[in-house]
Amino acid sequence: MIHDHLEEYRALRAGLEERILAIATSVDGRRFEFQAPLKGLELPPGGYAMLEDAGGRRLGQVLSVRLEHVDAAEVGWEGTGGGPAVRSRVEIRAARGEGVVLAGDGTPFHDATIRAATPEEVGAWLAEGAGARARLPVGELRLAPGVPFSLDAGGFDRHTFFCGQSGSGKTYSLGVVLEQLLLETSLRIVILDPNSDMTRLREVRDGVDEPTAARWRALADGIDIRTGTGDARLCLRLRELGREAQAAMLRLDPVADREEHAELDAVVEDTRPESLEDFLGGARPQSRQLAQRVRNLGIDRWRVWARESGESAIASLGDARCLVLDLGSLDSREELALVSGAVLGTLWERRAERQPVLIVIDEAHNVCPSHPPDALTALATEHAVRIAAEGRKFGLYLLVCTQRPQKVQENIISQCDNLVLMRMASAADLAYTGELLSFAPHGLLEGATSFRLGEALVAGKLASHPALIRFGRRVAEEGGGDVEARWARGTLTT
Ligand SMILES: Nc1ncnc2c1ncn2[C@@H]1O[C@H](COP(=O)(O)OP(=O)(O)OP(=O)(O)O)[C@@H](O)[C@H]1O
Ligand SMILES: [Mg+2]
Repeated sequence: MIHDHLEEYRALRAGLEERILAIATSVDGRRFEFQAPLKGLELPPGGYAMLEDAGGRRLGQVLSVRLEHVDAAEVGWEGTGGGPAVRSRVEIRAARGEGVVLAGDGTPFHDATIRAATPEEVGAWLAEGAGARARLPVGELRLAPGVPFSLDAGGFDRHTFFCGQSGSGKTYSLGVVLEQLLLETSLRIVILDPNSDMTRLREVRDGVDEPTAARWRALADGIDIRTGTGDARLCLRLRELGREAQAAMLRLDPVADREEHAELDAVVEDTRPESLEDFLGGARPQSRQLAQRVRNLGIDRWRVWARESGESAIASLGDARCLVLDLGSLDSREELALVSGAVLGTLWERRAERQPVLIVIDEAHNVCPSHPPDALTALATEHAVRIAAEGRKFGLYLLVCTQRPQKVQENIISQCDNLVLMRMASAADLAYTGELLSFAPHGLLEGATSFRLGEALVAGKLASHPALIRFGRRVAEEGGGDVEARWARGTLTT
């Protein structure tokens, strides 16, 4: 008996739930609210919707959707008939959500029907909006399969924050973006590459179509890759370091180490040492202590110093279309910090030249961390913060990449107007990112916990709208690379 009523109740509820109208209303013509039946719901956050009424058609994007329990009376059920189970209230479930109008005439609408837009409709809208600025095809829309998605190259005149947990595909996707910037624009790029991930940027991957491969080969000569060994060595000269960097390198504090600090100033003033050898071989007898310090700290053994022939990476900063600084090839943390600081400091010093350059910092939590572990890193961080705050008007644009948003200096992230967010399982990291970059729709950020490899949310000036995308294939070879997981294979296979 009870069973019968339960069945009856369920059938009634299912019938009522299906009768829910899929309709949307907007009071300002820009944002809308909608309700829809849960069954066959095709309106996920980030997805595209077509809103239609007598006034016309509008393309919208769903920003959030949730399950809601509603009284059946609200959707028009009057409770006629039925056994004991349905004599009381019937609670049914519906989808409710919010979204924005992407294309429409801006007039309010009431009870327009809402349905998932087809990939063709979304593709047509995107194609229509492609303006005169260079488009950077980087992949496809995740929620409109097959529809290519391009970033707006003009959006790179803002700082960009690129984040996602380890293994989410950040470096690979960063490579896709940089390749397109090199192919489609004339923007110069300097890459601080702590993991040696971009060291094969000149080489074309297998399987790339021939026209693209040919264009890449033509570009490759303009890519200068500086690494710890070989001809194009990643090195610099003592004189290229500012006074502050020299003191930081020697761990000299202007107050605690008054005498040695003053001596450093005097040596630099008097003898203007070009190199560390000049510095150590200087004539001033008072410099003995400084020389000792250099040797004790092992600074004279750093491989980063330019020898006679080597052209310093700082000297060639302005020359190459793209300069890759393979920081991962250096032996020590100090050398990494020294080069990063020197590069950022020099670019800042030359700001008056107003030469637009994109400064890419991969693994930014190591280059400009929120808590710098030493004076050299603190100096590099200071330069990065200054560029983040004031560099834009001089054409210094940052692209900061990390898996640890909370470990990167906050004032750098908060200055970013573009976001590329890949998978991020940590709710705390997501909340932090959303708080600093409030232009990214909350409902779409949340989805990042379930992104797969290569999937991302792109938002800000580089995207026509906050879009969920899947990055496409690289043109150039990846460098570095993770350790291959051979150990996971069965012992019988080789
Ligand atoms: N879109 C893609 N298509 C195919 N392979 C990919 C794609 N994106 C990433 N990969 C592969 O997945 C692996 C991890 O990617 P990647 O190194 O870019 O991650 P990451 O987020 O930079 O990680 P980490 O934070 O540890 O540096 C790499 O082996 C890379 O080749
Ligand atoms: Mg990486």
